[in-house]
Amino acid sequence: MKILVGNWKSNGNITEKDSMLKALNHLKTNVKIILCLPFTLLYGKKSKISIGAQDISLYSNGAYTGDISGQMIVDTGAKYVIVGHSERRTYHNETNEIVKTKATSAIKNRLTPIICIGETLEQHQSNKTKSVIKRMLLKSIPDSGNFIIAYEPRWAIGTGITPTKTETATIHQMIFEILKGIGKEKTPILFGGSINARNAKRFINIPHVDGFMVGHASLKSETFLPIIKDMN
Ligand code: PGA
Repeated sequence: MKILVGNWKSNGNITEKDSMLKALNHLKTNVKIILCLPFTLLYGKKSKISIGAQDISLYSNGAYTGDISGQMIVDTGAKYVIVGHSERRTYHNETNEIVKTKATSAIKNRLTPIICIGETLEQHQSNKTKSVIKRMLLKSIPDSGNFIIAYEPRWAIGTGITPTKTETATIHQMIFEILKGIGKEKTPILFGGSINARNAKRFINIPHVDGFMVGHASLKSETFLPIIKDMN
């Protein structure tokens, strides 16, 4: 089953969430849809669409003003949490070590972490993608438990620029081999960065592309639903 993660980032209100869930709940599809919403929108009635958060505190409940713990996320009914998104790594200086701790905390709370990895444009241009991704992957994943990987080249996020099919296939194959080497070959590997209804078909049949993480195009049903159709 292919997986589609919609990452709303710092966008959306209750009306927009309700209307998106309504549209998604009416859909007949084999794609597993996970809507990753801001904390303020996590809580709600159960539906067939899975809900995820976009970050998790490093700590359990306690004196950590402003932090949202794993237990709090679980309390809302959410089942997933994005960790180590490139925007968190960039704007909040999240290191692989922090990402690993957050992923571990997610698993401890029975949330499935969606662990993001991706190289910068400079690393891409200097042919360092493979070594950077390998290191990020091995340093960001938890020691035990199941997770999802989202490979998103940082230079593809929000830019409208995507890697070629061959580049994508090479990195996904490498991620798969690494995961296989540690007995985690069943881990879904998602691709992301400027995915939309015009390019989804190009990437969905690449071996070891098990789905997408979509930012901008996930905000409106007019742009999100056609991607789901292309994934069937
Ligand atoms: P984008 O974002 O689809 O808007 O490029 C993807 C992401 O950041 O997950």
